[in-house]
Amino acid sequence: MSAAAGTAAVLAEAEAALARAGVASPAADALSLLAHAWERDEARVRRARLFDEDVPADIGRRFANLCARRGERVPLQHLTGIAHFRLLALPVGPGVFVPRPETELVAQAGLDALAERRARSGAGSGPARVLDLCTGSGALGLALAVEAPGTSAVGVEIDAQAAAWAGRSVAAAGDLLAASGSRFRVVLGDAGDAERVAGICAAELGGSPHVVVSNPPYVLADGSTCEPEVIGHDPRPALWGGGADGLAVPARVIAAAAAVLAPGGVLVLEHADVQGAAVRTLMAGAGLTGAETRSDYTGRDRFTLATRC
Ligand SMILES: C[S@@+](CC[C@H](N)C(=O)[O-])C[C@H]1O[C@@H](n2cnc3c(N)ncnc32)[C@H](O)[C@@H]1O
Repeated sequence: MSAAAGTAAVLAEAEAALARAGVASPAADALSLLAHAWERDEARVRRARLFDEDVPADIGRRFANLCARRGERVPLQHLTGIAHFRLLALPVGPGVFVPRPETELVAQAGLDALAERRARSGAGSGPARVLDLCTGSGALGLALAVEAPGTSAVGVEIDAQAAAWAGRSVAAAGDLLAASGSRFRVVLGDAGDAERVAGICAAELGGSPHVVVSNPPYVLADGSTCEPEVIGHDPRPALWGGGADGLAVPARVIAAAAAVLAPGGVLVLEHADVQGAAVRTLMAGAGLTGAETRSDYTGRDRFTLATRC
């Protein structure tokens, strides 16, 4: 694009190109990328489309480059550098798993469990303790820390590059953490090593967690459901769960969580839609009770929660 062109036409052309490339949400992505290229929020870009304001030529060129890369199926969030997750704007890029919208429901289930604990135990219940196993960007642990005031939270991550991104997330969420009076730390470690996880809880939380949240790697061996954005850009350790059923890592995480949870504490674990029954069996085998699988925004079984007696 060499000269200025109207916003409506620029967006329509980009949307069509992204759709041809197989991008799942071409209109939303085109809007986000133009906002990013123009350094405006999306509401201002929508306004520019409504009044068909001209897109300056240099912004148009930047936008065209971004759209070309999106057409090659680079994840949107790698291009904008930000993933929105509940109240958080998390810095993301190569080396860290991009948090997904459905995982926000895992966070909500964890927050509900914390609220029930407060309601049960009253004001004298003391600060909540939260453990996020396989924390990646820190999305889950940080969301609970920010939304449940006075919480002590820790995330465990095996991959040093991902843990470094989680450290950037903590810095980016500094104001929200300060406002909530909560803390969130990230520790390198194997979330399936129960002894190591117990040591992390003692050192970082000062006791057993009341809630454990986890979105472990769980993709099945055939990987048939994976989009190019996932296969080409999400880190390998974030994807494959191990074993034909993808549950080797989740099984170890469930066992470690069950071993450290406080009595009455709740584990909330994300999984693939075909894994609900097997996850409930794993949770029962680890001594957790009342395992219940819940669905995501599209009605598919996507996470299971259970309680330690
Ligand atoms: C699916 S990603 C989820 C990240 C984040 N919790 C989220 O919901 O966006 C799984 C993460 O678990 C990490 N991981 C894989 N195996 C692990 C293990 N044994 N212990 C700790 N972290 C592990 C990966 O490196 C990756 O960051």
